[in-house]
Amino acid sequence: MKDCYELANGVKIPCMGYGTYKAAEGNNESIIKTAIEAGYRYFDTASFYDTEEAIGRAIHESGIPREEFFLSSKAWKTEMGYEEVKKAFAQTLEKLGTDYLDMYLIHWPLPNPEYKDWKELDIETWRGLEELYKAGKVKAIGVSNFLLHHLENLIQNCEIMPMADQIEFHPGFTQEATVRYCQEKGIYVQAWSPLGRKRVLEHPLLVGLAEKYNKSAAQICLRYEIQRQVIPLPKASTKERMVQNYQVFDFEIEKEDMYRIDSMQPAGWSGEHPDFPRVK
Ligand code: A2P
Repeated sequence: MKDCYELANGVKIPCMGYGTYKAAEGNNESIIKTAIEAGYRYFDTASFYDTEEAIGRAIHESGIPREEFFLSSKAWKTEMGYEEVKKAFAQTLEKLGTDYLDMYLIHWPLPNPEYKDWKELDIETWRGLEELYKAGKVKAIGVSNFLLHHLENLIQNCEIMPMADQIEFHPGFTQEATVRYCQEKGIYVQAWSPLGRKRVLEHPLLVGLAEKYNKSAAQICLRYEIQRQVIPLPKASTKERMVQNYQVFDFEIEKEDMYRIDSMQPAGWSGEHPDFPRVK
């Protein structure tokens, strides 16, 4: 199993990153330093997360060359628009203490659910990203939380195709229509909350599979995502968990078990899974 994918433009992206939403609380770089020690080189952030400065400091202090990292950030809802997004990008670079990004995403397709003119706003914002890309300030551009109809609007009106779409994805919530569309178009899907905010880890199917493969339920989730060619962005607060979450390249989930996870029901399961009865 490779530990990198190649995006549509040939840029390499690691198969797993460290998600920093609600990590590095108070812009504290110690958790990022721990993640670097644990082996992570791909950090996913956003102007909204308020973790950019902490990531910038941790990378700088690590002494590891910038080129060894894959840094991705996102423009927030209030930073949408052609001029606005370029300004937001410049601020992000400054906070991260770098002169380029590996990836930059539009965080949400619409600023709020009632907003009527999201189609035009997405296209305008995307034009800003295309310009940054052409200027060589960012190596790859994409979107986040775009569903099929948001992607279609963009693709029909763009010059450069989005290279990634970061959406919520985990067993029990696999957004099949959007994922299928992305994978057909060569858009890499990245998973936020790849562990289902921890809730799915107690699902009897995952608990049973963990026992079968001698792994943790978290590792089953992450390996499932990798086998679906989805890039998980887990966060964890201890080094032990960070390391454990990266140890998913030494086993393979069988096809039948992949199907079982594909059809896993989200919340409210009754307890027993027919294939994996709970050990009493
Ligand atoms: P903690 O921060 O206490 O380490 P998601 O990425 O789906 O939003 O889930 C994140 C949650 O999953 C965090 O609360 C994190 O807890 C927890 N988590 C991360 N890795 C593991 C693991 N290997 N085992 C159990 N829980 C984990």
